[in-house]
Amino acid sequence: MTAIRVRRARECDLAELFELERSIATAPHWPRTAYSEILADDIFAPRRCLLVADGLVGDPPGLRGFAIGVVHPAGDAELESVAVAETARRQGIGAALCEGVAQWCGAEGATELLLEVRASSAGAIALYSRLGFAVVGRRAGYYRDPADDALLMRLELKACA
Ligand SMILES: CC(C)(COP(=O)(O)OP(=O)(O)OC[C@H]1O[C@@H](n2cnc3c(N)ncnc32)[C@H](O)[C@@H]1OP(=O)(O)O)[C@@H](O)C(=O)NCCC(=O)NCCS
Repeated sequence: MTAIRVRRARECDLAELFELERSIATAPHWPRTAYSEILADDIFAPRRCLLVADGLVGDPPGLRGFAIGVVHPAGDAELESVAVAETARRQGIGAALCEGVAQWCGAEGATELLLEVRASSAGAIALYSRLGFAVVGRRAGYYRDPADDALLMRLELKACA
């Protein structure tokens, strides 16, 4: 396992983050402006966190991955995206990013974290299961291009002291 750092994204990360997102076909693809809006911290928008993973000092520069979590006004939380560069997979980065999002959502007051994942995304489902997410539903034909069902998964968050 390599040493990595998970931290909040900054404006200067966004060009590289967007390039990484576009290079990963199975990652959710958002408009460029959606990433800037997360950092803009609009008080009327749902609360979102955008986390990135990069190396420690002395490691080759560059973002290895990113993740997005949202806490809606009603208090429900969702892991909206997690993606890791192909060259950096199976080193614990996806897990560290998901844990970072879960921690942030818990600190924001959420008691559970939900997500939707393509039923065919075996790797992502294995990651989420390993982190303690359980399958709680299935939405038939939810995805297009290519068509796929969505699995709904849920993780109970520890109450924050
Ligand atoms: C899914 C994804 C984020 C995983 O990132 P990652 O950094 O490789 O994951 P980790 O190294 O933290 O994996 C932790 C554990 O999850 C499981 N896991 C992760 N990827 C797996 C795979 N492809 N196959 C089987 N198990 C997998 C394993 O148990 C792994 O532990 P191990 O390596 O010790 O066996 C990455 O493959 C990815 O970016 N995929 C494309 C985008 C995507 O599908 N995102 C999810 C939907 S938004």
